[in-house]
Amino acid sequence: MAHDRSVASPEYLRALPKAEFHCHLEGSVPATTAVSLARRNGVKLRTADPDVLYQFDTFEEFLDVYVAVSAAMTTPRDFAEVAYDCLTDAQRTGNLRYREMSFNPTNHPSLTYPQMLEGLLDGLRSAQADTGVECRLIVAINREQSPSVARDLVADVIAHRCDEVVAIGIDHNERAGAPAEFVEAYRAAAAAGLHRTAHAGERGDSQEVRDSIELLGVERIDHGYAVLSDPDLVTSARSEGIHFATCWSTGLLHHGGDPAAIEIGPMIAAGLSVSINSDDPPMFNTDIGTEFVLAGQSLSLTRDQAADLARAGLDSAFVDDTDRSRLHKVFAAEIERLDRELDGHDPTD
Ligand code: HPA
Ligand code: ZN
Repeated sequence: MAHDRSVASPEYLRALPKAEFHCHLEGSVPATTAVSLARRNGVKLRTADPDVLYQFDTFEEFLDVYVAVSAAMTTPRDFAEVAYDCLTDAQRTGNLRYREMSFNPTNHPSLTYPQMLEGLLDGLRSAQADTGVECRLIVAINREQSPSVARDLVADVIAHRCDEVVAIGIDHNERAGAPAEFVEAYRAAAAAGLHRTAHAGERGDSQEVRDSIELLGVERIDHGYAVLSDPDLVTSARSEGIHFATCWSTGLLHHGGDPAAIEIGPMIAAGLSVSINSDDPPMFNTDIGTEFVLAGQSLSLTRDQAADLARAGLDSAFVDDTDRSRLHKVFAAEIERLDRELDGHDPTD
């Protein structure tokens, strides 16, 4: 039986191939894993009850939990296991094909940058060998720490260059560290050929987004919802091709659970380049498949619109042209297969 082409069903939204650009390693630790890691490494969390650990009402409380869970990851093996598990889970539950995943090295003072990298690369390679999912890395600056910590971190990244680390980013509380403070770190990264993204305009105002673009030279913005309050900035972001890596469930936290208040639909309608991402999946009780189901249903996406959204970030991925066209081909074939399956054709004929 032919299905209604006009509506993207939850099954279709979940089965679409996904590429995501805004997902934090430390925010991807399931609560049960966080509790076992803390026990194994002798680190204290605010509770040993996994059902309670990820209960928070405010963004500040969320960041406290995020920092505590980061501190529970103390060995290369921890990094390998968390990376492997989160990638293979997202592949299995949401057909994740490609991710650029960020991590905060300075949240793990007991490990050197090369030690973290060793574990991460091990996890990434095993996940790709077992499921085909590809992952590159973004080194994130914690803006609540000082600009000199950020400069030292970028120097470390440059001293230990590897193909998988493609960019730097900046996260944590926007109210703590303005973009202007991190110009030097971003300049050094750009000079070394690293791509740049930044969390901005998540709760702060549009000036954060503007400063991230103009002072830090970012190519992408993580979140960026405040852009809508500045029509000139919308116009320039659109013409410069700045990409916005947005997150539905994080928006729910910021808007008291009201999907109608989430800015992602209006950002797409304004012609901005927008992708859907999972941010900190278990901490927000979500995964990349669920993010597409929530966004697709709330925005009443057609199948074609949902497929376009699944491909939307590929043009802004931090990859070379060969990899970009390979990813586009993989996505086109997968979407075509899905459409044929839903329209009642045998996908093998
Ligand atoms: N915003 C700011 N800091 C963060 C986030 C986020 O979405 N996730 C983890 N750290
Ligand atoms: Zn984030």
